[in-house]
Amino acid sequence: MSPVKTVVMIGFMGAGKTTVGQRLARRLGWRFIDIDKEVERSAGMSIADFFRILGEEAFRTMERRVTKELCWETQAVVAPGGGWILKPDALETLPPTACVVWLRVSPDEAVRRVFGSTTERPLLAGPKPLERARCIMAEREPLYMRADYAVDVDGRDPEDIAREVEILVFGAKA
Ligand code: S3P
Repeated sequence: MSPVKTVVMIGFMGAGKTTVGQRLARRLGWRFIDIDKEVERSAGMSIADFFRILGEEAFRTMERRVTKELCWETQAVVAPGGGWILKPDALETLPPTACVVWLRVSPDEAVRRVFGSTTERPLLAGPKPLERARCIMAEREPLYMRADYAVDVDGRDPEDIAREVEILVFGAKA
């Protein structure tokens, strides 16, 4: 297997892709790339406005393009949004030196975290967010399962998770 040059963090909204990804990048001395932020920069509007004005399909197209470009960055931890995996060939657009890690969060914890955050998530903004989260999660789980590694995150400290990811991907330091 080729040496890992990019780590891609996937998982549901609220799984901690950004927080853990930043910690992992710091541990490795690598760069952290938040795809939502890159889309916002490129589009000149927030993700919530993007959904409102241009719609989810346009967002997915842009998210895919931006991720496809930035996943080829080396020495980078890349975190696409939770729905990037929806295109069936999403993983096939990654370079062979990318390693994909699924941060597995329960719907209950995801909703708790999302509602405690300042980032707006249009897909959970309507009524009955927990039911919606369960439903979206059930649809995506088989796709997330295609990751190289899965790490459970409920109730855990981000630094501890980052350490586990580092060991899974690169092995324990001697
Ligand atoms: C989405 C997840 C969000 C953001 C958008 C759609 C999704 O990113 O891309 O609101 O479809 O799961 P996070 O996973 O970083 O919250």
